[in-house]
Amino acid sequence: MTILIVGSGAREHALAATLARSDESPSLYCLGTHRNPGIEALCAEPITVGDITDTVAAVRAARDCTADLVCIGPEAPLATGVTDALEDAGFPVVGPRQEPARIETSKSFCRDLLHRVCPEAIPTYFTVTNEKEAAAALERLGDAYVVKADGLAGGKGVKVAGDHLHSREEALAYCREVLADSSRVVIEEKLIGQEFSLLSFTDGYSCLHMPAVQDHKRAYADDRGPNTGGMGSYSDSDGSLPFLGRQDVAVAQRLNERVVRGIRDQTSVPYRGILYGGFMAGVRGPAIVEYNARFGDPEALNLLPLLETDLIEIFRAIVSGTLDRTEARFTPAASVCKYLVPPGYPECGEKGLVLDLPEEWYSPPAGGHTRGTDGETSPGKTSLFLGSAALRDGRLVTEGSRTLAVTGTGENLETAERGAESVIDALRLPLTHRRDIGTRALIDKRIAHMRSIRSNPLRVGVLGSTRGTSVQRLIEEAETFQIPASIEVVITDREHAPILERAARHRIPSHFLDPRTADGTRKPRERYDRDLVEILNRYRVDLVLCVGFMRILSEMFCDAFHERALNVHPSLLPEFAGGTDMDVHAAVIASGRDVTGCTVHYITPEVDAGPILVQSSCAVTPVDTPETLKARVQTLEAAALVEAVERFRALSFSDEGARK
Ligand code: GLY
Repeated sequence: MTILIVGSGAREHALAATLARSDESPSLYCLGTHRNPGIEALCAEPITVGDITDTVAAVRAARDCTADLVCIGPEAPLATGVTDALEDAGFPVVGPRQEPARIETSKSFCRDLLHRVCPEAIPTYFTVTNEKEAAAALERLGDAYVVKADGLAGGKGVKVAGDHLHSREEALAYCREVLADSSRVVIEEKLIGQEFSLLSFTDGYSCLHMPAVQDHKRAYADDRGPNTGGMGSYSDSDGSLPFLGRQDVAVAQRLNERVVRGIRDQTSVPYRGILYGGFMAGVRGPAIVEYNARFGDPEALNLLPLLETDLIEIFRAIVSGTLDRTEARFTPAASVCKYLVPPGYPECGEKGLVLDLPEEWYSPPAGGHTRGTDGETSPGKTSLFLGSAALRDGRLVTEGSRTLAVTGTGENLETAERGAESVIDALRLPLTHRRDIGTRALIDKRIAHMRSIRSNPLRVGVLGSTRGTSVQRLIEEAETFQIPASIEVVITDREHAPILERAARHRIPSHFLDPRTADGTRKPRERYDRDLVEILNRYRVDLVLCVGFMRILSEMFCDAFHERALNVHPSLLPEFAGGTDMDVHAAVIASGRDVTGCTVHYITPEVDAGPILVQSSCAVTPVDTPETLKARVQTLEAAALVEAVERFRALSFSDEGARK
C-alpha cells in the first residue's frame, strides 16, 4: 500500500505516524511545503517540496510514487481542487472535492447550506456585498457580532466584536478591507458559550464520529493575547468534555450527519474525508460556529494517538463508500496536546533557532507512536509531532510558526496533562507553550462558565426494565435544552428491554446489568446494587430516576443515592403501593374509584413509601380497562417526571446554579 500525504505540518506528521503503525506497513510519501524531519523519517523518499495547491504538481507526485491512495491534510489544496485533479487522474483521495470543500472555503456557502439543513443551529447572519449592507447588518446585530471574510484567510479572516473589533467604525473598516479583495463578507451574531470540535470520518453517506476536543486559540495563558492556529487542545476519556452534557455531543454528531447529507444533496458530490464541526455549546445546546473540510490542527494530534482502528482501513472505507461497514475505535483515554512555539509567535516567530532535540524523539521507534506491546494504543504514552521545524546543516531549527506539539495520554486529564508537561520539561527547548491547557484550574473555569450560562444542568441516570415510555418526554426536553437536565445513562436488568432501543435512538449510553452471575445463579441484591452505583457514579449522575425498574433497591443503594433517587409509581400513593403496572390499574378499576393518577417519590428501603415529590391525578371512567387507564396515567407520568426533575433541581441548586 503506497500512500501520498499532502501537507507537511504537525497534523500531517500525526497522520504519517498513525499510518506507519498500520499492520499493512505502507510506503509513505509526502508532498509538502517544507521538509519536516518527523514526516521524512517515516517516508520512503525525501519529501517532495513544492506548491501543495498546484493540481499538476500533486498529480505528478502521486504518479511518481504510484500512490494507491492520497490523503490531504490542510485546506488550501482542497480549495484549489487538488482532490478533483487527483481523482480525475484515477487516484482515490481522502479529502473532499473542491465543490463540497466549500463548506470550509466559502463562509457564505457554508451559512447558506446550514440555513437550509439546520436553521435552528446557526446564528443570525447576513451575507453582504457592499458597505451600505454591512452597516445595516451591524445595526441589526447591535454589539454582539462577528465579521468573516468569505474565502480562506489562514485563520485570520474572522474578527469578533469585543476581541478584535472595538467599535462599529472598526467593524466597517474591516468590512471595507475585505470587500476590496473579495465580493462578499458574512456578518453574524456572536455566539456565547464554550467552543468544542467534533470531527467525523465520512464517505459522503455514513459518519464515524471521533471524541470531542477543545482547542485553545489564544497565544497566552488564561486565553489572553492574539489568536493563533491553536496552542493546544484536550479530549476526555468518555469521548465528551468535562463542561458538556451528553446531549451536546449527540446533537453535534447528528448535525455533522445532516450536513454530510446536505452537502451531497446540494452539490451532488459525496463528501469524502474528514468533516470538522466547530460548535459553541450555549444556553440552548450546540450552535455551529464553522465547518472545516479536514482534520483540525491541533485536534488531530489528540485524536490520532488514541485511534485503535487501523487508519488505512478507515481511509479505504472512505474512498470506497463502505464506511457503514467499518468502525472507528478510540482508546477510552484522555489526551492533552500542547504546542511549543518560538519567541515572537504568532506575530513574528523566530526562525533558525537551534533545537537540541535528539532524533529519536521525533523519528521511530521511540518518537514514533503510542502502540503498546499488545498491539493496541494505550494510555500513559506521550507523542511528539514536528510542525514548523526543519534540518539546516544537520541541526533541527525553528521555521517561525508552531514548532512542535507534545501529546500526553492518560486515564484522565490530570495524568495526560502531567505526561505532556514532564516531557516538555525534559526537552528543555528554547520555546514557549501554554502551561494552563488541560489543567484542572482551566477546565474548572470552563465548567463554571457553562454552569453560569446553562444554570448547571442536572445529570440524570435512568433505571428501567421495560419500555420506559414515561421518560420519553424528559429525554426530548433535555435533548432540546428546554430543561437544564441531561440523561447521561440508561441501565436495565433485562437484556432485551425495549428501553435500550429508546436509549440507542437518542444516543444515550446504556448498560445491561445482568442480575445473574456467569453460572446462572442470581446475584445477591447488594452485589448487584454495588455495580449499579459504580456505573451511575462513573457517569457522575446527580439524580436517579426509576421508570418501571422491576427490582427492589437495597439499603446500600438508598444510602448511596439518599434523596437523589426517584421512582414513578402508577397510582396516587399511598393507595395501591407495592403493585406494579397493569395490576395497579386493574386494582384501581376493581376498587370502583373514580380518580387515579401517578406519584413521583423518593426511593427509600421501604417500597413505595418514600416522601412524595410530585403527584398528578386523572379521572377513571366507567368504560376504562386497565389498558386505557395505563395509557392515560402514562401521559401523566411523562409530565410528572419533567416536573419532578425541575423541582429536584430547584431544591438542590441555588439560583446561580451552584449545588446547595
Ligand atoms: N483547530 C483549528 C483548526 O484546525 O482550524
